[in-house]
Amino acid sequence: MLLPFTSLACPLDNQPLLRSNNAYCCVSGHCFDISKYGYVNLLPVQLKKSKYPGDNKEMVLARHKFLSSGMYSPVAGTLCELINDEIKNKQKFSIIDAGCGEGYYTASIKDYIKQQTPEKTASLFGFDISKDTVQTASKQHKEILWSVATNNKIPILNNSADILTSLFGFPVLSEFHRILKQNGLLIVASSGTNHLIELRQKIYTTVKQKEVSLISSPFFHLEKTVLLQQTLPITLENLDSLLKMTPHFYRMDKNTYTQLQEKPIEQITVDIHFATYRVNK
Ligand SMILES: C[S@@+](CC[C@H](N)C(=O)[O-])C[C@H]1O[C@@H](n2cnc3c(N)ncnc32)[C@H](O)[C@@H]1O
Ligand SMILES: [Zn+2]
Repeated sequence: MLLPFTSLACPLDNQPLLRSNNAYCCVSGHCFDISKYGYVNLLPVQLKKSKYPGDNKEMVLARHKFLSSGMYSPVAGTLCELINDEIKNKQKFSIIDAGCGEGYYTASIKDYIKQQTPEKTASLFGFDISKDTVQTASKQHKEILWSVATNNKIPILNNSADILTSLFGFPVLSEFHRILKQNGLLIVASSGTNHLIELRQKIYTTVKQKEVSLISSPFFHLEKTVLLQQTLPITLENLDSLLKMTPHFYRMDKNTYTQLQEKPIEQITVDIHFATYRVNK
């Protein structure tokens, strides 16, 4: 069973936010309207570093198109297995997806919980600094609470989340530590050394060997790591969306793009590193 997420905090003074009609308000009278799509913007202008922070519309559209193809369902599957391990002994829990993008993984977790553990009670909250991503997410998935917000000041009460996911995002460990309950779990996904190697080899003369760096922090300790490595067939349409959802597209020259259209890559390596960390409290 899914319940509404109720641990929002005012981004201005950290007081609990309560829903009243079409807004969330704190006791000091700060109110944040709920948009017509159902999300709430909890990113006050003073926390914005640019007018349109985060991923732009084109990237959001491309990511949405690519993820909707189901090609990354093994990634969602691995994530859901990690969630499953964690909720085995829990009856009631909350899950936060920090930097949720257009909500593909948040919604995958929601579907998994509804199908596999309908007897449990869960509440889900996804937020992202990009309004376009949150709008896309909230138009589709009404059982999840969505918000425009930043990892630098997460609008969630202290010690209120059981599980926090940061998938291909920008972790802010002090904030993650603050909002997680004692014994809460952080799940981080990042791309491994060979991720999309076929594409990177076409784009760059020297392909950077980026090693996955594990979090080393007094706030968390590593619990387990899981590697997902697969080489998957890819259509030209999916290749195009995949490219456009990454920064590689903005770094490549036009000729390489034309070459990729004329002689496309037919398979692509997915190399994803998951790590789970238990909070130290
Ligand atoms: C690579 S995308 C991943 C999106 C999603 N987790 C997924 O895997 O589909 C990174 C996301 O982080 C968001 N982002 C960037 N800076 C952020 C911040 N300070 N707080 C929250 N989200 C942020 C971007 O807008 C973008 O949607
Ligand atoms: Zn307030």
